[in-house]
Amino acid sequence: MWTPSRTNPTTSSPRGPLFLPSLISPTVSSSLPEAYTIRPLQRSDYSAGFLDVLRVLTTVGDIDEAGWDGHYDFMAKRDDTYYIVVVVDGKGKIVGCGTLVVERKFIHNLGKVGHIEDIAVAKDQQGKKLGLRIIQALDYISEQVGCYKSILDCSEANEGFYVKCGYKRAGLEMAHYY
Ligand code: ACO
Repeated sequence: MWTPSRTNPTTSSPRGPLFLPSLISPTVSSSLPEAYTIRPLQRSDYSAGFLDVLRVLTTVGDIDEAGWDGHYDFMAKRDDTYYIVVVVDGKGKIVGCGTLVVERKFIHNLGKVGHIEDIAVAKDQQGKKLGLRIIQALDYISEQVGCYKSILDCSEANEGFYVKCGYKRAGLEMAHYY
């Protein structure tokens, strides 16, 4: 099993990826449309379309580069917890993204659970199986780092998509907004 390290020379570089690229599934990489790639988020992605892709999902707000850098650096220091993957088209533009957050528990013998969050594919790129590949990539990371399951919340409208990705309904979401 992969052992995380905060001093990993690859991820601790300011220009480096958010997490180790070796955690990207080779099977997923080779299943993408021609010229498309999948990789960890990197600090320079501020202007590569990542925030625009997230706007397909919900409100993002006006995030300036300093805010981006601070947030990115926080996550990069925790490269055993935050895994954000991006799909890039042949022109270098980010067209899809997804997040895995690894939660460490005391129950289940110090078990780890993967939380899948913020899956989004640019409107003009939907229907090309990019969403499926993003979920498969996050599932692969989750398994590689030792999670015993991954879970997510979604709307009824997206249930069919996640069923196609191998997920099934389990439990009920509750929320308390502040
Ligand atoms: N309902 C039922 N089936 C669906 C849906 C849906 N809403 N969306 C896609 N599918 C099916 C496809 O038809 C395809 O089926 P097939 O294998 O039989 O051909 C399969 O699921 C895979 O579809 P993809 O092409 O991989 O889907 P896409 O790349 O378009 O991504 C996504 C799907 C991520 C839901 C995209 O439509 C999107 O970004 N939507 C807006 C943002 C959003 O709602 N994100 C999910 C939020 S939930 C969360 O983040 C945990």
